[in-house]
Amino acid sequence: MPNITHRALVLDRFNSPMRVAEVATPKPGPHEVLVRVRALALNPYDRVVQTLGGLFTPRLKFPAVLGSDVSGEVVAVGQACRRLRVGDRIMGLALGADRRGNRWQEGAFQEMVLLREDCCCRLPDSVRYADASVLPLALATATTGLFMKSQLGLDPPPTLPSPLPQHDSPQRTVIIWGGATSVGSVAIQLATAAGYRVLSTASPHNHQRVRRLGAAVVEDYRQDGVVERIVAAAKGSTVVGLLALGAGSGMPCLRIASQFARRPKVAMASAPIALDRAPIGPQAWWRLVTLPRLIGGFAAMALRARATGVPTCSVWGTDLVDDPLGRHMVVDFAEAALRDGRLIAAPEPLIEGQRLEDIPAAIDVLRLGVSARKVVIDLSGVGM
Ligand SMILES: NC(=O)c1ccc[n+]([C@@H]2O[C@H](COP(=O)([O-])OP(=O)(O)OC[C@H]3O[C@@H](n4cnc5c(N)ncnc54)[C@H](OP(=O)(O)O)[C@@H]3O)[C@@H](O)[C@H]2O)c1
Repeated sequence: MPNITHRALVLDRFNSPMRVAEVATPKPGPHEVLVRVRALALNPYDRVVQTLGGLFTPRLKFPAVLGSDVSGEVVAVGQACRRLRVGDRIMGLALGADRRGNRWQEGAFQEMVLLREDCCCRLPDSVRYADASVLPLALATATTGLFMKSQLGLDPPPTLPSPLPQHDSPQRTVIIWGGATSVGSVAIQLATAAGYRVLSTASPHNHQRVRRLGAAVVEDYRQDGVVERIVAAAKGSTVVGLLALGAGSGMPCLRIASQFARRPKVAMASAPIALDRAPIGPQAWWRLVTLPRLIGGFAAMALRARATGVPTCSVWGTDLVDDPLGRHMVVDFAEAALRDGRLIAAPEPLIEGQRLEDIPAAIDVLRLGVSARKVVIDLSGVGM
C-alpha cells in the first residue's frame, strides 16, 4: 500500500494536548489485521496515560496514539491470519499504549489501526459498530479478573450456551462491586454465563439495569450498611471471589471478604482514588494533594488485607492477551455469545462526536463522570 495515509490523533509527549496528523497507513504483520475504524470508545486509562504517563507508563514510545476500544471492518490481513477475512465486521482490543504493543500503529484513536487477529471478535450483523466499541477492554479486564488463574481463577463460561456448568451446592457466588461500570456490566454477564450467582453494587437508578445483566442482588454502594447487606445476601452460598471496580472499591470489598471464615480473594481493578482528574499542564498542586492520598489508600488496603488474611491481586486488563484464555473468551466465547444473546453490548454508548477532533472534549465528558454509559466516537461517516 504505497503512499496511502490516514488521520490519527497523536500524542507527542506526556502531559500535552493531542493533535490530528496525517500518518502512513501500515501493512499488517503476519498475525495482524488492518481495520478501518468505525467507532472507538474512551476509557479512564486514556486520560491517565496522557496526563500522568510520566509516572505510570514512562516507557510509552512517542509519537503515541492512545485508545483501547475499536470496532470496524477488516481491510487487510497478515499472511498468517487464518480466521479473519477482508470485509469482516469486528471489534478489537487496541494495544498501542500497552507494553505489549507500544507503537502508534496499534492505538485506537485513528482511522486505520493494526490489531492482533486474536484480539478481534467478529460481530453479528445485528450488533452496531457504536454498540460493539464499548466491549473490548471491558471484556478483557472482566475476563482477566474473573477467570485468569493468577486472579480469581473461576471457571470460564463454555463456548456454547448449554449445558451450563453444574456447580456443587451450596451455590457459588461472585461479588462484583461496581456493576454499572463498563467492566462490571460485562463481568456480570460473564459470571452469569459461567453459572455463578452474582451480587453487585450500583447507584439506585442503575439497579434494574444491573439486574437485567444478570445480578441476583444489587445494593447502593453509597448507603451505610452496604457491606453488611452484601454479606447477608451471600449467606447460604460459597463466595468464590470479589471483583472490585470503581475508585475506592477495594476497601469495602476487603471488609466483605473478611466476614467469611474461608476468605475469598479480592481482585482489584481500580485505584483508591480516581486518577483521570489530573489537569493537562502544571500539575504540582494536583500531585501534592492527590499522590499522598493515593499512596495512603494503597497502604491502608495492604495493611487491612494483611491484618484480616484476605488474599488480593491486581487486575491488568490486557494480561489475557498472551494467555490461551484470551483466545477462548475473545474469539470463541464472545463470538458465540454475541450471537446467542448471552453477551450484549453494555453499557449503552454515549456518542460524543463523529471526528477524531472530538476526542479531547469527549475525554472531558468521561472524566467529569458518566453513569452506566460509555463515551464513544462514531467514525462511521469517515471515508465512506
Ligand atoms: N486494571 C485494569 O486493567 C482496568 C481496565 C479498565 C478499567 N479499569 C478501572 O475499572 C474501573 C471501571 O472502569 P470503567 O471504564 O468500566 O468505568 P466507567 O464505565 O466509566 O464507570 C462509570 C461507573 O462507575 C461507577 N462507580 C464509580 N465509582 C464507584 C464505586 N466506588 N463503587 C461502585 N461503582 C462505582 C458508577 O456507577 P453508578 O452510576 O451506578 O454510581 C458509574 O456508572 C475504573 O476505576 C477504571 O480505571 C481498570
